[in-house]
Amino acid sequence: MDIINLIVIGAGLIGPRHASHIYQRSDCRIFAIVDHSLNGPNIASKFSTNLFKNLDEMYHYIEENNLNYPDGAIIATPNHTHVDFAVKLAEKGINLLIEKPLSSNALECKYLINYLKDLTDQGRGVKTLIGHHRRFNPYIVYTKQQLTKIGTPIAIQGSWCLKKPDHYYLEKPWRTDVTKGGGTLLINLVHDLDLLLYLIGPIERIYAELLPKQREYDVDEGAVLTISFKNGCKGTFICGDNLVSPFNFENGTGENPNVPFFNTEGFYRIFGSQGTLSVPDMKFYYQSQPGWENPIDVDHTISKNEETNNLGTYTPATSFTNMSSFNTNMDMMMNDEFENQDNFFDIKPFDLQLSHFIDLIRGQDKVNCTAEDALMALLCIETVMKSVETGKPEYVPEIQDLK
Ligand SMILES: NC(=O)c1ccc[n+]([C@@H]2O[C@H](COP(=O)([O-])OP(=O)(O)OC[C@H]3O[C@@H](n4cnc5c(N)ncnc54)[C@H](O)[C@@H]3O)[C@@H](O)[C@H]2O)c1
Repeated sequence: MDIINLIVIGAGLIGPRHASHIYQRSDCRIFAIVDHSLNGPNIASKFSTNLFKNLDEMYHYIEENNLNYPDGAIIATPNHTHVDFAVKLAEKGINLLIEKPLSSNALECKYLINYLKDLTDQGRGVKTLIGHHRRFNPYIVYTKQQLTKIGTPIAIQGSWCLKKPDHYYLEKPWRTDVTKGGGTLLINLVHDLDLLLYLIGPIERIYAELLPKQREYDVDEGAVLTISFKNGCKGTFICGDNLVSPFNFENGTGENPNVPFFNTEGFYRIFGSQGTLSVPDMKFYYQSQPGWENPIDVDHTISKNEETNNLGTYTPATSFTNMSSFNTNMDMMMNDEFENQDNFFDIKPFDLQLSHFIDLIRGQDKVNCTAEDALMALLCIETVMKSVETGKPEYVPEIQDLK
């Protein structure tokens, strides 16, 4: 099979993580890093690849040397730059993996979606995957598999509460700039809302209040939400990045190399007519004879390999040789075979996401997180912000009503 050529745009926090996942594989290679900062040379040399300051420089090099354009690009730059990069890449037929959020505002997303649709109508379409990588996290794959056990989902309770260190904000000014997509709601809550949409379904209405701020910056530090889903399920969610707590996705799953694994229970609790599922401990609570006078049973048949995640440092759990034994086709990912692998919970979602992107480029799968999905998550974030402003519950707009 042909080697897939990929570029990574952005050599900051997350770009090099994408690059390290590509670097481990034998079926693809990093054609270049694109970044205009002082970080660029270091990262390009780490992955023994070309460095370009911008796309024009790269296109010039490709054309001068009569090379093919790369097969795909991972856009890992600040939120407000995603759409411009995406348009410039899609014009050349380069497939896209765009970091979340798709953009810093919903209208720009809609513009991109229409632009990509026009290209498709002209027979020049590209595959577009949005990097809501948690959909590929084994805990979420398993949660989605197990959800039918709880009967009808009636309520959900969730939290993403942790403390970001001061240097996170000091070293990158865009993270404290509302106009550039900074703030915890856009950077972090968007992940959880995407998962709630993925697990429970479309959201109809949200009421939100901001958490009291502890820092001096303009950007939010989180919010408390009540959520009404279109299927009737209700939820509450607390998101905050200035709280000392292990009740968040990163601590609870150990998926982020910068955040040590902690054996957290219940950063999500999904309550249903037949039982309750707690994530990431994956305890399923039920009663053989429903009713408060009867004992609660707990089904806890799976456990995490704490050794590999307690370290808090990132060691890729699976080489591609192992990865190839997993079926990453999205329809097949929900089957038992995947779950019964010994190191199921050690699989890195970035590996699965990359495998999926490569499958898409090869035309072997359908997109797991589309630009429309990402726009829905962003519309929910904008609804949170609107509710904060108005002090009332607000309806999430429909994509077609966006003007
Ligand atoms: N999926 C995840 O878990 C995850 C985690 C962190 C960040 N992100 C997302 O990834 C994106 C990047 O976040 P980050 O924290 O890595 O940002 P960062 O600021 O650490 O890095 C961004 C890099 O992009 C480069 N850059 C910016 N504008 C550029 C331009 N016009 N041309 C070339 N290079 C340019 C900067 O020099 C910098 O090196 C954001 O959209 C963020 O929301 C996703």
